[in-house]
Amino acid sequence: MEKKDILILGIESSCDETAAAVVKNGREVLSNVISSQIELHKLYGGVVPEIASRKHIEKINQVVEEALKDADVTLDDLDAIGVTYGPGLVGALLVGVSAAKAISYAKKIPLVGVHHIEGHISANYIENKDLEPPFVCLVVSGGHTHLVIVRDYGKYEIIGKTRDDAAGEAYDKVARAIGLGYPGGPKIDKLSKEGNPDAIKFPRAKMEDAPYDFSFSGLKSAVLNYLNAAKMKGETVNDADLAASFQKAVCDVLVEHAVRAAKEYGFDKLAIAGGVASNSTLRASMEKACAENQIQFYHPSPVFCTDNAAMIGAAAYYEFLAGTRHGWDLNAVPNLKLGER
Ligand code: KG4
Ligand code: ZN
Repeated sequence: MEKKDILILGIESSCDETAAAVVKNGREVLSNVISSQIELHKLYGGVVPEIASRKHIEKINQVVEEALKDADVTLDDLDAIGVTYGPGLVGALLVGVSAAKAISYAKKIPLVGVHHIEGHISANYIENKDLEPPFVCLVVSGGHTHLVIVRDYGKYEIIGKTRDDAAGEAYDKVARAIGLGYPGGPKIDKLSKEGNPDAIKFPRAKMEDAPYDFSFSGLKSAVLNYLNAAKMKGETVNDADLAASFQKAVCDVLVEHAVRAAKEYGFDKLAIAGGVASNSTLRASMEKACAENQIQFYHPSPVFCTDNAAMIGAAAYYEFLAGTRHGWDLNAVPNLKLGER
């Protein structure tokens, strides 16, 4: 008998994207619908949690319907519903979790809660059909900067993380300081292409006691001090040089830590994930460093780096195979730890 395909509807609503996707056998994306609230939050310079929750409620049903339609399936074709239940904004998460529970209850389809970071990591499986654990993954998003060893599907060991700001958060704060607006990452990425990355020497933080940990608050302060000092002296700042120099400082540390981890732990596969993983300098530097060290480098396309539901469908597939099932008591867990069930 031929093995039946497993179809999973993934739902994601942890921050400012309402997203739904249908994924076949964990790696084939049949549809991927993302309704972004960025334009709305731009007015406030960042995500406003209450507005995010309200907007998710308005959009969720429409996004789910569209994902099913694009994939040319109905709820009856689904084998499971995968949904992000943490970490994230509690009100935002609750919308996705409630929608997933309602579908699961009405259609008697298994419910699989997914950790948002597990989703980001699993985005790598979508386009890299050969990628299987174990490997090292650098997760860099607006809320997280984690260096993770993916021992197996669903088995993670965090070997380093940020002690203060996440990489994406640092991008967003620096972008705001030079008036680029929200979200700052893509804007700094673009502006950097016109600047000299060696124009300004910004600090690279090193933690002697924890070589895989990160810290970006010192770098952020150095950028703000540089801007203030220039203002006091009445000097004009070359924003492109500043953006490029800041970006290089961030990427140097990310690449150095990730490649060192792969070498010291003895892995020849390194993946990146999360919104900042779509950064052009990070991708180019990682590519180069991996090639120099005989490490195979993996990354998702930009659409699967920033928040999306295809990555949740991919992660839910492996959780589903491992037997993970959640009940009607599944709740949003804003500070959910990776590896917790
Ligand atoms: O993964 P994500 O969509 O949401 C979270 O889980 O946090 O990441 C969003 C973050 C934002 O901080 C955004 O500025 C950053 O990813 N980002 C980028 C780029 N695209 C998005 N940072 C640097 N370069 C980019 N091209
Ligand atoms: Zn994310």
